[in-house]
Amino acid sequence: MSPTETNPAKFAPIPIGKINPDEPLCADVYLKIGDKFIKFKEQEDAIPSEKYNFFISKNLKDLFVLTEDVKKVMDWLKASKAKLVEEVVEQIGEEHRELAEKREEIKEVVFETFADLELDSGTVTILQDQVADFIDDIGKKKVPQLVLAKLTRQSHSVADHSVNVANIAVYMAMLLGHGHQFVLENIYMGSILHDYAKAKIPEDILKNTGNQKYNQAIQDHPKKAGQMIAKIEGINKQIITIVEQHHEQHNGKGYPKGLAGDDIYELSKIVTMANVFDNILVENINKSEKQRNRAAIKFFEYDKGKQFDPEIIEKIIDGLKLAYGGYTKAPSKKEKIELPEDEVFSVDDDDEKDS
Ligand SMILES: [Fe+2]
Repeated sequence: MSPTETNPAKFAPIPIGKINPDEPLCADVYLKIGDKFIKFKEQEDAIPSEKYNFFISKNLKDLFVLTEDVKKVMDWLKASKAKLVEEVVEQIGEEHRELAEKREEIKEVVFETFADLELDSGTVTILQDQVADFIDDIGKKKVPQLVLAKLTRQSHSVADHSVNVANIAVYMAMLLGHGHQFVLENIYMGSILHDYAKAKIPEDILKNTGNQKYNQAIQDHPKKAGQMIAKIEGINKQIITIVEQHHEQHNGKGYPKGLAGDDIYELSKIVTMANVFDNILVENINKSEKQRNRAAIKFFEYDKGKQFDPEIIEKIIDGLKLAYGGYTKAPSKKEKIELPEDEVFSVDDDDEKDS
């Protein structure tokens, strides 16, 4: 077959979130560009994580395989899911196998549906459970544990803030439809490490806000952190980019580079929002929890595309209101399946007659 094809009947979509980066593929994989299907990777090749992240940042949802390969690909995806279940079972014990299987199923549902779903209090509760599970899991891994322990030794306040940012950022990422382990781990590690260099700024410089030394140290901390964490084993390019760009703003008025719009890495935009959210909570420490959360949500509502990407902010604001603002929302009418009232009554009437 030629590397470029235009007949859609020959291809089937595979959600990109089901494929793991850096793992050899079981079949040739195609990209759809316009109405053309272009061969992107051959069987046994892998999708490099940089490319994978690029696709995700461009909101690419599907890759394509030949229809004759669908059965093989489905078996392959099933086997990789089974492998993930085995890894979890190994951690939590054979007696919890059913729980591990259920969790993998829920993860898939999260990835596939949440990006397009209208949020309500029920879906937010499920997402928050997912966040808690994810944070719990990653907390057991070696690199996150070591990094967090080191950060805590350097600065308790930066470590506390970074853990909060990680929780909020993982939730925000899920709100935007990110469910892949690889993406969420990058978000988590980027959040934990975003102020890694700030934790090293001496106390006497940090105290004198506004003077030149202070301004320079603040201006430099994203780039410095990027250089520092590049030396840590297990830290990839995506995490470094998140850290380097966590003070960039959509309108180009951020620092250190003044990047704007889509020049800012998608996952970095998420950590930036989570960082601002937690900073406002810290600034309002004397208020009640509800007041603090609402102050932060208001800030996001007033932003209107200045600091934050207007294309994603609406969904984020809705998710923040439901998770932190004390707002509730029932599922929308069109999604609720109910029998018309008169039919319900007529069934009851019949029951009475029969008894
Ligand atoms: Fe920072």
